[in-house]
Amino acid sequence: MKFSCIALAGAVLQLAHAGPVNKRAEGVTDADILNYALTLEHLEASFYEQGLSNYTKQDFLDAGMTESFYNNLMSVAMDEKAHEDFLTQALAQAGAKPVERCTYAFPSTDVKSFLALGTILEGVGVSAYLGAAASIMDKAYLTAAGSILTVEARHSAYLRAALGESPSPQPFDNPLDFNEVYTVASPFIASCPSSNAALPVKAFPSLTMSSMNAVSAGQQVELTAGEGFTSMNTTDLHAAFITVTGPVWAKAMPAGEGKWTVTVPMGVAGQSYVVLTNGDKQATDDNIVAGPAIIEISPMRMSMSMSGSAMPAPTMSWAMGAGSVSWSLMASMTASPTPSAPVFTGAAGSVTASVGGVVGAVAAVAGFFL
Ligand SMILES: *[C@@H]1O[C@H](CO)[C@@H](O)[C@H](O)[C@H]1NC(C)=O
Ligand SMILES: *[C@@H]1O[C@H](CO)[C@@H](O)[C@H](O)[C@H]1NC(C)=O
Repeated sequence: MKFSCIALAGAVLQLAHAGPVNKRAEGVTDADILNYALTLEHLEASFYEQGLSNYTKQDFLDAGMTESFYNNLMSVAMDEKAHEDFLTQALAQAGAKPVERCTYAFPSTDVKSFLALGTILEGVGVSAYLGAAASIMDKAYLTAAGSILTVEARHSAYLRAALGESPSPQPFDNPLDFNEVYTVASPFIASCPSSNAALPVKAFPSLTMSSMNAVSAGQQVELTAGEGFTSMNTTDLHAAFITVTGPVWAKAMPAGEGKWTVTVPMGVAGQSYVVLTNGDKQATDDNIVAGPAIIEISPMRMSMSMSGSAMPAPTMSWAMGAGSVSWSLMASMTASPTPSAPVFTGAAGSVTASVGGVVGAVAAVAGFFL
């Protein structure tokens, strides 16, 4: 039985009296949101165009992908182009000026790092549409955005499965707000035409994880805050894993030089986002001090027959969040994380090296996956 099935009841329960969630963006118009979505679609469409021109079909076959995968990937690329065209037309029809493509800096150097980054971008796309949904005023736009969101989710599931990751690692996807999305997307954007309208978004200081591998609940990760991070009060710093039911908190233990050690809490799985916050009452634009960092967390699979040696003993310090309701159930059963997804550790060195100082932050954001 999947852990996520057990977690479902708890998560729904929490939705009913959810605490502070990400604040609805104020003064943001539907045109802003469409241009924000278009910014992401430009990025995705460009990413696939570049990748499919950089790497031949034979490169994909040599990397162990099938011909049918390659064909499906081409249709993913066409979907992103269609989203781009659709949003451009919708903006023009609404009398707003659509933003144009930027120049991008993608730290992929081969098929595997390209696909690894593709899964991340699709996941960010899902989280971006989900997080923006509540701010869309016009119901027609909401339906249109929803119809894009479901397709992005299918892309994400397909690519994740192709790379050996769980296609749907948890029952609820994680919404990101505008600034959170911009924080993880901006390292891939080198420069934009000056004629593009400025979007009402800002990037938080980056937050990156030192480990290159997928991690499991109970494992420690080291996070490093990047440029722009000035902690005026590191005594009350916390790590918040963003979920639709609100943050799942974890302790952020100072590890020196802008580094923090965080124990991955229960209740988050798959492509996850962690921010450092001041205080532990909320994780909003008002108190996020760095991040999100993107962390791939292997889902817990329940099994009565497996002997779960990898499962650490429960302690009181584990974050109480969406997953907490299921904890007593978890504790009475044996569990083991699914085998870690094959993350392409081999490429990490070359990717970061080739990106170097030009877009250090890109390597930092993508480093974990590449
Ligand atoms: C494609 O190759 C160019 C030239 O090496 C590189 O700058 C770009 O980042 C690559 N894009 C992708 C998505 O692999
Ligand atoms: C730092 O955090 C502590 C604990 O929340 C709080 O009491 C204190 O006022 C904060 N200091 C500053 C300078 O914000």
